[in-house]
Amino acid sequence: MKIIKAKDYKDMSRKAANIISAQVIMKPNAVLGLATGSTPIGIYEQLIDWYNKGDIDFEEVTTINLDEYRGLDKNHDQSYWYFMHKNFFDKVNIKEENINVPDGSNLDAKQACSEYEEIIHAAGGIDLQLLGIGNDGHIGFNEPGAAFELLTHCVDLTDSTIEANKRFFESKDDVPKQAYTMGIKSIMQARKVLMVANGIGKADIVKQAFFGPVTPEVPASILQMHPDFTLVGDEEALSKIDL
Ligand code: GLP
Repeated sequence: MKIIKAKDYKDMSRKAANIISAQVIMKPNAVLGLATGSTPIGIYEQLIDWYNKGDIDFEEVTTINLDEYRGLDKNHDQSYWYFMHKNFFDKVNIKEENINVPDGSNLDAKQACSEYEEIIHAAGGIDLQLLGIGNDGHIGFNEPGAAFELLTHCVDLTDSTIEANKRFFESKDDVPKQAYTMGIKSIMQARKVLMVANGIGKADIVKQAFFGPVTPEVPASILQMHPDFTLVGDEEALSKIDL
């Protein structure tokens, strides 16, 4: 486990974008596992900026997103498909056919999830998986208690996650109650994992996840066992750990 301390959100985003950029330069046809949430937005902005300057090229890149709400069509403005297009894909030269997000409109959970695992497999696995961290330690939508051996599956969102995500919807009732998410096993199979965390609100969970016991109660804690895991956090998010 490598921990990189950044001054602030901008510095965190730039450092993480540098790691992604290095991956794409070393392997132009890299398979990038991408994440939503507010934390990675600065990374996407930085990558778009470097793309506009001609410093990075996404022509051959494949992307595999972590998760999607079950029941939201991709054109719904709160779907993760929509989020990724608005914040990143529409602004770089990634090919639409190389973009993968679980199909939230397919209500057949079993089929949607097994198809997604086939996509990951057919792409040759994920070279670099980007992650944020939920307040309760969730990664993707793997909530506390999720078994470490799960592949892509359907989850019931916890009240804490619905509460945290309601800011994006008109009301709490509009937040979908289920999602399709890559499982912990799918995430652990990525060759490299990069997590970003910022703000004082993440300080406790960062400490618990990376300086506490490895337990399904804190899903992110399993990353302590990943052979190539890097956490880039700002000063606030890392303020409760002794580096
Ligand atoms: C959502 C996403 C996660 C993300 C988490 C934290 O639940 N499914 O992938 O890490 O939110 O979001 P934020 O970065 O906004 O704190």
